[in-house]
Order: sequence, then C-alpha cells, then structure tokens
Amino acid sequence: MKRDRFFSTLGITAGTLIFAPSLASCIKNKVVNSGDEKPNNSGNRTIDFKIDLALSENLQLKTEGGSLIKNGIIIGRTSDGTFVAASSACTHQGFTLAFESANKRFHCANHGANFGFNGSVLNIPAETTPLKIYNTKLVGNLLRVFG
Ligand code: FES
Repeated sequence: MKRDRFFSTLGITAGTLIFAPSLASCIKNKVVNSGDEKPNNSGNRTIDFKIDLALSENLQLKTEGGSLIKNGIIIGRTSDGTFVAASSACTHQGFTLAFESANKRFHCANHGANFGFNGSVLNIPAETTPLKIYNTKLVGNLLRVFG
C-alpha cells in the first residue's frame, strides 16, 4: 500500500501531521491561561476573577448577608458591607458550605462544622482544618476575588 493511501485509510492528512503538535500546544495554553485558576508552585490553586455586581446573576452580593458561589469560592457580603471569600468546600469531607452573616461564620450542614470569616475552625469535627481564605477588592461594580 502506498504511503498516502495508507494515511488516507486512517483518516490522516498531511495537514493533520503538521498541525497536530501546534493544536496540542494551543489546547494546553488555553487551560493554563484561563485567568480564573492557576496552580502555584506549592500545588495549591490560586484564583483571580471579577464579579460584576451590576449583573442580575450577582444581585445576592448587593445585599448585606447575601452570598453566592463561583469557581468553587463562596463569597459573602457581611452586615458591615465588606466581602469575605473562602473555599466553598468544607475541609472535613468537602460538603458545600453556607454563608451565615448574622453568625459571622461559614456553616457546614453535613456534620455541623463552623468556620470563622478568617477561615479558623470554630467547632467540630475536631480533625477539620482551616478554610482557605481569599482576598476581595471592590472597584466600582467589579468585585475582584483573588489569592
Ligand atoms: S463535611 Fe463538613 S463537617 Fe463534615
């Protein structure tokens, strides 16, 4: 069988052979440069994204006590109007946390763990580790969440 007929049988063209390595590189770069999440040298992920508070999907953050979850981060607006952001997964077994502004904590309904707004463990389960806390900065209607 001739070479071009062999590749044709496999569905491979000369263009495929030339551009395949470039496409693989583009796909890899797209993931790394997404802008939302990047691995750092310690293996933890870093995040950097903005939430437009003018959009209806983000209206919860216009009200004190409101919260939402984006990119695995729970963001809440406290009773004094500041914002707090933390990993939304409980450090015990990964259950999704709830923001409780009145109690100044993140609450896990699965086994009852509570975390302070600084990420500290407030109560059981005893083996629970602190929450990862992220920085927030409001400029105009854009809330940046990063760390
Ligand atoms: S999963 Fe949250 S306390 Fe157990």
